[in-house]
Amino acid sequence: MTHPVPPAPPFGAPLPLTPAPAVLDFLALRRSASAMKLAEPGPNAAELETLLRLAARVPDHGKLSPWRFVILEGEGKAQLAGRLEALARSRGDQVATAKLGKLKIPPVGVAVISSPKEASIPEWEQLLSAGAVCTNLLNAALAMGYGANWITDWYAYDAEAMQILGLSGRERVAGFVFMGTSSEAPLERERPNVAALTSRWEG
Ligand SMILES: Cc1cc2nc3c(=O)[nH]c(=O)nc-3n(C[C@H](O)[C@H](O)[C@H](O)COP(=O)(O)O)c2cc1C
Repeated sequence: MTHPVPPAPPFGAPLPLTPAPAVLDFLALRRSASAMKLAEPGPNAAELETLLRLAARVPDHGKLSPWRFVILEGEGKAQLAGRLEALARSRGDQVATAKLGKLKIPPVGVAVISSPKEASIPEWEQLLSAGAVCTNLLNAALAMGYGANWITDWYAYDAEAMQILGLSGRERVAGFVFMGTSSEAPLERERPNVAALTSRWEG
């Protein structure tokens, strides 16, 4: 890890209220990498533990932790890819088979599972919190110097694939965040005209 990340502060500890210009610089230039171009090395075990800890530091109405992580790496990831490939082939679906490249190629992936709880907090807000976890995980991996990409693809939505992944009840895949080393600098993509998407409520 190039930069030592502070340990988890104890409950109730006073936290800094200082500007973080490096974070602003990062956000101004952050960019996902192509999942198909993510090579070894990916985050090691200690880095992955840090990434998940940072990913989980998100707004979470009601403190429900309505999400969980499934780490995809090594033999486990290969087996998952094999089972999904068998599923796609059994349906004669070549497009789905080809899409599995994004799962097979990157050295490390994390499935962020939205796992809504029975609570007074609307499910919508619990889903949004899972999306925030994906964003945090993606950005933490990029800030650590890895290439990373948030994808979903068919195996996030397919009932049999969801069963293979071990989802239950109302659980859904919020995203697969794939990580690895990107050998080429990503190019800026088209960005929205924020002014055109912004209005001011004036009654
Ligand atoms: C919820 C969600 C699901 C996505 N699923 C896919 C996908 O299945 N395949 C894909 O190529 N890109 C997918 N993307 C888009 C990629 O993450 C894309 O690389 C990203 O929008 C690049 O933007 P950035 O460079 O600003 O991070 C998804 C994005 C989001 C937010």
